[in-house]
Amino acid sequence: MNKITQLFNIKYPIVQGGMIWNSGYKLASAVSNAGGLGLIGAGSMYPDVLREHIQKCKKATDKPFGVNVPMLYPNIEEIIQIIIQENVKIVFTSAGNPKTWTTYLKENGITVVHVVSSSKFAIKAQEAGVDAVVAEGFEAGGHNGREETTTFTLIPMVKEQINIPLIAAGGIATGRGMLAAMILGADAVQMGSRFAASFESSAHDSFKQTIINVKEGDTQLTLKELAPVRLIKNKFYQDVEELYSKSPSKEDLESLLGKRRAKRGMFEGDLVEGELEIGQVAGLIHEIKSVKDIIDDIIVEFEKCKKEVNDVKF
Ligand SMILES: Cc1cc2nc3c(=O)[nH]c(=O)nc-3n(C[C@H](O)[C@H](O)[C@H](O)COP(=O)(O)O)c2cc1C
Repeated sequence: MNKITQLFNIKYPIVQGGMIWNSGYKLASAVSNAGGLGLIGAGSMYPDVLREHIQKCKKATDKPFGVNVPMLYPNIEEIIQIIIQENVKIVFTSAGNPKTWTTYLKENGITVVHVVSSSKFAIKAQEAGVDAVVAEGFEAGGHNGREETTTFTLIPMVKEQINIPLIAAGGIATGRGMLAAMILGADAVQMGSRFAASFESSAHDSFKQTIINVKEGDTQLTLKELAPVRLIKNKFYQDVEELYSKSPSKEDLESLLGKRRAKRGMFEGDLVEGELEIGQVAGLIHEIKSVKDIIDDIIVEFEKCKKEVNDVKF
């Protein structure tokens, strides 16, 4: 038991990060059933779709699960009401100000966690009254901070500044990575990329195949003027780079990005024109696996590495 397994009433301190177009009820319930904390990613769901996923998740698991709400998407008020009506007990908010919803969610009996990418925002989240913080380093997949602070430096820095439970994210996909994060001061880990390449992820098979073929150096954090996002360097990414060489305005970038790029890439499998969000750690993901195998393998490796560290004598 530790602070996070107690807070969420779960077996392992492993959280599956909410992921647009990847984390529906199938992934979230599989993670919760395997002993971690599964999160439904509300960011890519219309409110009625979210309600359906919550209801299906309740049927698929009797273990705790939560919903991730990125505050940069529309319909937030409706989404929050659905979460309360459906009696979801855990919410992870991201991409916005933690002050906006924390008090209201907590008044409704919900455990609130906020995702940050710097110590400054970790302190703000703590001040806003959240129950725990996810600190996400620059290597992470999906939307990220503008600063380029890596997980290895971010976690101990945040640890120095806050006294609520801390969850590390970004670049963690193995038991070895999980142990490292916990030695750096995290109480748990949040993983996205590793779970995107699982059988239960709702991503298109072509995207999952692409993830396992990604090598070191194949992703880049880009579009910092809009909402910084780490992408695989496909044709769409090359088009963004070409536009950057012409000193584009924010409107030019918005117009190239257009709408539905992420859905097109990750959900519909358009590997050329779509937006393919994944973390640097994809270079360590070599196989699409079931969630249960992912978690079991991580725990075995975690225990093995813990022993290795323990055996070090000076
Ligand atoms: C495909 C994809 C979609 C993501 N979508 C979201 C999202 O909707 N909300 C959010 O808070 N984080 C999102 N993230 C970030 C993850 O929740 C998680 O924090 C991150 O993936 C951790 O880093 P890793 O990719 O190195 O494991 C996304 C990540 C990926 C790879």
